[in-house]
Amino acid sequence: MGKIEKISGPMVVASGMGGSRMYNVVKVGELGLLGEVILLQGDRAFIQVYEDTSGIRPGEPVVDTGRPLVVELGPGLLASMYDGIERPLEVLQQKGDFIVRGIEAPALDRKKKWSFKPAVKEGDTLPPGAIIGTVQEFSTEHRILLPPDVSGEVESIKAGSFTVDDTVARVGGRDVRLAHYWPVRIPRPTLKREEPTVPLVTGMRILDTMFPLAKGGTAAIPGGFGTGKTVTQQSLAKFSDADIVVYIGCGERGNEMADVLYEFPKLEDPRTGNPLMQRTVLIANTSNMPVAAREASIYIGATIGEYYRDMGYHVALMADSTSRWAEALREISSRLGEIPGEEGYPAYLASKISQFYERAGRVKTLSGKEGSLTMIGAVSPPGGDFSEPVTQNTLKVVKVFWALDKSLAQRRHFPAISWTSSYSLYTRDVAEWWSANVSRRYEQLRSWASEFLQIEQELQEIVQLVGPEALPDREKVMLLVGRMLREDFLQQNAFSDDASCPPEKQLRMLEVIRAFYDFSQKLLEAGRTAAEIRQHQSVQRIARMKEVPPERFEREAEEIERMMVM
Ligand SMILES: Nc1ncnc2c1ncn2[C@@H]1O[C@H](COP(=O)(O)OP(=O)(O)O)[C@@H](O)[C@H]1O
Ligand SMILES: [Mg+2]
Repeated sequence: MGKIEKISGPMVVASGMGGSRMYNVVKVGELGLLGEVILLQGDRAFIQVYEDTSGIRPGEPVVDTGRPLVVELGPGLLASMYDGIERPLEVLQQKGDFIVRGIEAPALDRKKKWSFKPAVKEGDTLPPGAIIGTVQEFSTEHRILLPPDVSGEVESIKAGSFTVDDTVARVGGRDVRLAHYWPVRIPRPTLKREEPTVPLVTGMRILDTMFPLAKGGTAAIPGGFGTGKTVTQQSLAKFSDADIVVYIGCGERGNEMADVLYEFPKLEDPRTGNPLMQRTVLIANTSNMPVAAREASIYIGATIGEYYRDMGYHVALMADSTSRWAEALREISSRLGEIPGEEGYPAYLASKISQFYERAGRVKTLSGKEGSLTMIGAVSPPGGDFSEPVTQNTLKVVKVFWALDKSLAQRRHFPAISWTSSYSLYTRDVAEWWSANVSRRYEQLRSWASEFLQIEQELQEIVQLVGPEALPDREKVMLLVGRMLREDFLQQNAFSDDASCPPEKQLRMLEVIRAFYDFSQKLLEAGRTAAEIRQHQSVQRIARMKEVPPERFEREAEEIERMMVM
């Protein structure tokens, strides 16, 4: 047993810790606060403490638990809301509003019984990670996995009603329960990584059509305060075609997190009409919790995401915001007295960020299924300045960059995602899926729209100098079509019926705008002025395309196209 030597905010130095290992979990002080060893020097351990350290004193005991930080994985995770160290908020609240300390609250309900249906029989030989049976977790079939370190012959297995602590099978000489533990810092193993070629369909036009994300891919949403990070993340949670959502609220302002805790349980799953929480795990680590817990929440979220991936599901993980985690790393690093890197962040910031996003992927699971973990991190650069280290280091690893633009948000162009500075490196990877499943014209329409927006941007700069009237009619018409793309296609209100737009409608909308462009060129050739073209009846109808319900849209598109004849 060690003894506290020094307390420095969320960090405690303890002596007499000779037998400790890096990343072991320790209980700190009389209260038994949860902490993790992050540096060992001789018999001194530097411990980051996941609970508020005020009031604890030098001389108090420190006990090494001899194990790393683990999460409990099993039925009952869905619809749960946890703090940064996987304690159910509900339990903590009952004991007094989030600030209770030293409480061990198990992640999963110990009493609840689950009806277990075996999928294997006695005598079968199983590889690690095999699916041994199922229980029903709301509308999700929760596949009970052999822990990755258990394999061999099924000696016994039984159907019936069990708690997460009951033994349901004996495999390879080990008792198997409905739940198992996994160390959060170690990625769960898979058989093989697959290419991310299937898009994560989000229902957001600017994302799906212009800057697509792949299932198993990585994306960052950087943006200053109030530009739409949280709204975008929540739309993704609600509308993307992931089976399971892991939402990590990481140290955003206390009241914002309170909003999330209040809003999320009310969100409706557009697929089933049931609460979205029934396929969501929420990890809420507010800024009034100690900074070190942000780190834990990030790893716990990733591990839970991998666990559902390993069942053969498509999981989308959102972290809002990874900047708060990076700030925690900075604080801990400075308390360790490490040599600071750029803007005071530790030199290992880049590798921490990349290790986190490396846990994303589309994989063949140990049980042979296809699963994916897609990771989407919000970044909150101070002052909205993307040149700062967290944004820059995130950009080096993620494949999609959805850049929120303050000036768009100010003009109330939502989502305020810039079409000039955003990019996706999956565009080619997912093109085949779009061609095969939605329209052969995907690539053509997409590149047309993106080039057109580029040209419009340049024209806008000229307009700034000379005014719109100085432009020739041909260019005035280009501005009109550019405006269509921006306002009638890219703008999409997250709080309207248009919040989610199916891929078919997305491309059809683009097709109509493209048809209008071709039509306008013919009108120009026939001597019509830009002013006349602007008055054409189709212009008004195009402006209202987004309001037309998807199932009626094909008819609407055909009608608009019929108007465009001379
Ligand atoms: N897609 C959207 N549709 C409509 N309004 C939006 C959209 N995105 C952002 N907003 C508006 O911007 C405000 C701030 O967004 P929020 O996501 O809270 O910003 P951030 O998390 O970046 O600070 C929202 O309250 C909302 O009014
Ligand atoms: Mg926010």
